[in-house]
Amino acid sequence: MHSELQVGSETCSMNTTTNVRTPDESLSPSRRQIVAGLSILLGLTASALVAAPVVGFLFAPFIRPKERLWRSVGRLNDFKIGETVQVEIEKAGVLPWDGFLAKTSAWLRRKSDHEFVAYHINCTHLGCPVRWEATAELFLCPCHGGVYNKDAYVVAGPPPRPLVQYPVRIHEGDVQLMTSPVPLV
Ligand code: FES
Repeated sequence: MHSELQVGSETCSMNTTTNVRTPDESLSPSRRQIVAGLSILLGLTASALVAAPVVGFLFAPFIRPKERLWRSVGRLNDFKIGETVQVEIEKAGVLPWDGFLAKTSAWLRRKSDHEFVAYHINCTHLGCPVRWEATAELFLCPCHGGVYNKDAYVVAGPPPRPLVQYPVRIHEGDVQLMTSPVPLV
């Protein structure tokens, strides 16, 4: 913008044009496209990083391998006849991101020399872990008062079914439970 100012008998000429450019204008069109492309790429990468665990969780039941596996829980002589003990086992169909969820527990009882029975630790109501009360010979669920007898049948509370049973075998001196991706409820 060009303007003139009368001072006394003299005329001053001033050029008031401002030459300020925004950061965007200082970039050439091709650079602007590169910056815009990088912004979109970063946005998509961030979205993918946030969404991946959620998508993995939602679709895990469909992609989880459906194998059944025998898992050793100890040697035959580790278990006394008549005793019910908690054993830890790795689940079947474990995925790399399962972390501590890859393991679970079971209640195992040796009934005789070569006979064992094992139950899932999770209550059939909403999946809380049940505990074995040896003196009462009951499995008790702490969440809503579910009670199972020693053969895992429901005797009180809201559980709709007996505790889920694991197949058990003795293989080369090891006691093994068969794990499979069984739904909790
Ligand atoms: S989860 Fe066991 S009674 Fe509800």
